Amino acid sequence: MKDLYKLYAIGFFKIFFLFSALSAESIPSFSTGVKIGEVSENSAIVWTRLTSVSSPDFDNLNSAPGSRGSVQVSYWVQNLEKNQILLDPVVVDEAADFTSQIHLKALTPNTHYSLQLSAFSTEGSPGETIRASFKTAPAQDQVADVCAVVVTCQGHETIDKPKKGHWAYSHMRRQDPDFFIHTGDVVYYDRWEAMPLSKNKTQARQRWNKMFSYAWNQEFHKQVSSYFMKDDHDTLKNDCWPGQVYGELTWDDGLQLFKEQTPQGPLPYRKVRWGKDLEFWMMEGRDFRSANTIPDSPNKTILGKAQKEWLKKTVLESDATFKLIVFPSPVVGPDKKGKSDNHSNLGFKNEGDELRQFIASIPNAFVVCGDRHWQYASKDPETGLTEICCGPINNAHSKRGGNANGNPDYHLYYGGGKGGYLRLNIKRENGTPKIHFVWHGDITTNGKINHELSFLAKSANP
Ligand SMILES: [Fe+2]
Repeated sequence: MKDLYKLYAIGFFKIFFLFSALSAESIPSFSTGVKIGEVSENSAIVWTRLTSVSSPDFDNLNSAPGSRGSVQVSYWVQNLEKNQILLDPVVVDEAADFTSQIHLKALTPNTHYSLQLSAFSTEGSPGETIRASFKTAPAQDQVADVCAVVVTCQGHETIDKPKKGHWAYSHMRRQDPDFFIHTGDVVYYDRWEAMPLSKNKTQARQRWNKMFSYAWNQEFHKQVSSYFMKDDHDTLKNDCWPGQVYGELTWDDGLQLFKEQTPQGPLPYRKVRWGKDLEFWMMEGRDFRSANTIPDSPNKTILGKAQKEWLKKTVLESDATFKLIVFPSPVVGPDKKGKSDNHSNLGFKNEGDELRQFIASIPNAFVVCGDRHWQYASKDPETGLTEICCGPINNAHSKRGGNANGNPDYHLYYGGGKGGYLRLNIKRENGTPKIHFVWHGDITTNGKINHELSFLAKSANP
């Protein structure tokens, strides 16, 4: 009799666990959020990932395990939900870490869109549903005010609050920006103590998944569209170049993971027109570079021939008032001592000189960069080129890796030890376009403005 009870008990638990497993599988969720990227006048890419948990478990290295299933997107011009367009569902599986990138096309310029993502299990039963929104770029002949926000360098080690992540995302969202640029080091595969180092694809994906599970990050990405650029730590390791490996992680793994975890179009370098007064170029700094260690020469490169030719040709063709050339790392600097990884370093002086001269010759062109762990604006004493560096996501991150010293020959603003984010606004004053760069502080100063600089557009042919 006792044995019979035991058998019943075992049977009951087996059925219970099977049922729990099935029901868990049958409600796929979006606990790593959504990212809307690569927005143009008429297109966007919606990135998402299905998870088997409805909220992330931050005590677990695998904070948001993936789930098979499918995702269906519908979208509509804000407040016109009755005219929504429903796309076909897209199946996700472990091959791409349960992520998908859904392309929206034929959008209207300068328009707010809403979208809904619905998750379904492999059997077709409904899972979580979430909503997000974004704004398309104004057409190139349209005069429109612009507000954008830019960050670089964020780590799990320096989040401002457990489970919520980096506070800058909360403050940036409240600025209601038109778009966001992450200039790279979105995660650090090879750094610091909060997680095991990411020496294989599983560990690298865990790092991405956790970063986009934080509440502040998720809320931001539901409301602001993004352009993600990569740098060294989110490609492979510190100051890396093609062909290197990190543990079991190969160079090709690194490229594939970045494309998998962020919304990306076909080419890593691209440009976006945002109305009459802005065009910005996002440069790829890792894929085409020479080894950092070879002696400098006219052939030593970070950009590679094709990208450099594309930059020069398209910048010269552009009739946008302001032209921002966004690099993952500095072109002007000055950098801290001992570096040989970017255009401001002697190790890449040839290409650095070429770029500084070229960009300085273009009216109303600026370099915007990330990578360095301090906020600054600098002006190259030789060419007059102005560089705007957003600095790291918070002061805690600024303490990692060291800062350069202030240099009065270069700096228009030197914010040593300061992190937060960069905001830029463009508007016309009495008909003249003006660009305004604002460096915000982090959570410790409640986002206080550390510095601001404005430039009125100079005529192209004075
Ligand atoms: Fe960094």
